[in-house]
Amino acid sequence: MDNRPIGIMDSGIGGLTVARVLHEKYPKESMVFLGDSLRNPYGERSREEIGRFAEEIKSFLLSKDVKMILIACNTISFNVPPSFTERPVPVVKMSLHITLPEGTKKAGIFATPASIKTHAHKKTLEKRFPEVEWIEVPCEGVAAAIEQGKDENFISALVQKAAKEYHALGIDTGYWACTHYPLVPDAFGKVFPGIPFIDPALPTVETGMAILEKEGRLAEEKGKDEFYFTAGVDHAAPLVHRLFGSVPVEKIKLVGE
Ligand code: DGL
Repeated sequence: MDNRPIGIMDSGIGGLTVARVLHEKYPKESMVFLGDSLRNPYGERSREEIGRFAEEIKSFLLSKDVKMILIACNTISFNVPPSFTERPVPVVKMSLHITLPEGTKKAGIFATPASIKTHAHKKTLEKRFPEVEWIEVPCEGVAAAIEQGKDENFISALVQKAAKEYHALGIDTGYWACTHYPLVPDAFGKVFPGIPFIDPALPTVETGMAILEKEGRLAEEKGKDEFYFTAGVDHAAPLVHRLFGSVPVEKIKLVGE
């Protein structure tokens, strides 16, 4: 048994889509969430910057005595060096263990430019589902627009532009390979009416919880949840409160900012 919180990191509010799954499925677990909203979007930054910023977030979460870290960000997950996931505590990347609707033939991987550059999603999914045609769609500006609370039509136009440019308008399944995107399902739904989208939040949380269970470190009693952001919380706080109730949401400064 281990009642210490689970650390969750992202470049902003996107990681809340992973945090909400943890909250719903494992109500005894507590969390410390940090979204580096000041330096968002990570998906349009260099690998070196992403790695450096991620180390700063990790140090912050470790200073909060977390028992595990979930990287609730694809861009961080697939751009950090292997050493990033070495202990002191288990560090879990976004899962690629998704399931697809039966009969999927042509699927779109919607992600940030920095994630697409690694081809991590495509390489793994092509091996697991060789019968499916996988189309990579770097969605420039989409995570930033969501972070800034831009309206659905604005976001939808960006998705439409990316989908057209990368020949993804005829897909039968979509994969949200950026944790910001499941916050705006309707913006994607406008471009792809009736098309199912996969959200890897659940397999990601389950991967982490399986580790804790194996180590006998599931929580038995819920403590407090804490949410931190590095920019103003005017947009983030109402969303956090809607998803998690009246928990503290604070603006903090990271060392390297
Ligand atoms: N939410 C992040 C992801 O899953 C990245 C958003 C960004 O900062 O570009 O990739």
